[in-house]
Amino acid sequence: MSISIPQLPKGTRDFYPEAERIQNYIFDTWRSVAESFAYEEYEGPMFEHLELYTGKSGEEIVSQLYNFKDKGDREIALRPEMTPTLARLVIQKARELKKPFKWFSMPRLFRYEKAQKGRLREFFQLNMDIIGTESIYAEADLMAAIATMLRKFGLKDGEFAIGVSSRKLLATYLEEIGAPNPSLVYPVLDRRLKIGPEAFAKALADAGLSEDQVKKLDDFMSCKSIEEVKAKVHSENATAALQEIEDLFATLTAAGYGECVNLDLSIVRGLAYYTGIVFEVFDKGKSMRAIAGGGRYDSLTEKLGGERIPGVGFGMGDVVLADLLAEHKLLPSPKQSVDFYIASFTNDMKKVFETAQVFRNAAGNTNAKPFSVAHPLAAMKMGKQLDQANYQGAKIVVYVDGSKAAEGEFEYKDMRTGEMFVGNVAAIIDRL
Ligand code: HAM
Repeated sequence: MSISIPQLPKGTRDFYPEAERIQNYIFDTWRSVAESFAYEEYEGPMFEHLELYTGKSGEEIVSQLYNFKDKGDREIALRPEMTPTLARLVIQKARELKKPFKWFSMPRLFRYEKAQKGRLREFFQLNMDIIGTESIYAEADLMAAIATMLRKFGLKDGEFAIGVSSRKLLATYLEEIGAPNPSLVYPVLDRRLKIGPEAFAKALADAGLSEDQVKKLDDFMSCKSIEEVKAKVHSENATAALQEIEDLFATLTAAGYGECVNLDLSIVRGLAYYTGIVFEVFDKGKSMRAIAGGGRYDSLTEKLGGERIPGVGFGMGDVVLADLLAEHKLLPSPKQSVDFYIASFTNDMKKVFETAQVFRNAAGNTNAKPFSVAHPLAAMKMGKQLDQANYQGAKIVVYVDGSKAAEGEFEYKDMRTGEMFVGNVAAIIDRL
């Protein structure tokens, strides 16, 4: 009888060390840029009560939930996004938290999606959010952070774009043309470019819009400039919503990010809780799925039973980002690299372990990253040891039992140049 080999679940990934190294590069860059914008890191549980999502996040994401009953008969869901957890954290300490505040997190998320390019069932997502202000400069801060981050990964302006829209603006336009309940219309508008003009018109007709209203809406969502929009909207609310976008763009332009943002009223976002600015980040030419998406959600805490606390933020997934960086050859080498390999001609393992420890402790003050030190784990010929040193990407091989070992001097080889030297520990470290 043959036993079948266990399979990787669909839409999930294994991270062998080479993949994990790239993953950590993404995490390190996310974290360092978020911290450079003074966001603080937080975390939450990987599963929540199912009701945190139902009715608040939007139909699509709820249909993708991994949910189950636990042994205590509670309805539980693996988290498909971080925003409801964040809202829960905020409600719980609404009084104590000094607002506004800026937080970030890098959760592992789960969505029962059709696994395809850019979409998996388990992925990581950087979340950056600002809680407790309605100011448009919060949006400016988030977008500046996105652009800084993508530049830090090596992308050039023009290779990505943050498309900006506003649900407030859209709502006022829907009102102006006499369209029915916006919350019914948004999910259709969000799918406009995905489903094509005919299916779009049909879905809007099903939602109660006339042919004339559909045409107007289609024209509106195709506007590419603020001037074009101004010619179409007239209400006070619409003018205020447009002014907000103008302020946002002027601020980002002054800060040097003008090339990274553009008006894109075709963006609506699928999630139900957005109330103001919404945005999505795409690669040039939109050949891939969105790299990131976000927006303002000023009534989510209220919907969840707390007081009204405004918020705005975004999520950036690791999958599309890594695909895009790979396409531009911007991912680091996945190969291992260590600082030192401690070798011994006589297989003197005690001396090998002792010397390895000397190098690991030699990094100096406690905050410094210790040197990485490898060595053989069994007696073997020098040729084999050098093979290992090579394979592990050692920069310097230190021979513990050279002719001057008794005087505290080691023979060592710089693997990058092939040169041999003799020197004490300090001299060897200097050569790194
Ligand atoms: P979202 O648009 O659902 O927003 O996801 C944001 C990003 O997460 C997407 O642009 C994509 O990069 C990534 N993503 C989403 N689903 C998948 C998937 N199945 N596989 C791989 N990557 C995926 C939200 O989640 C909001 N909660 C973001 C937010 C934070 N809004 C305000 N604060």
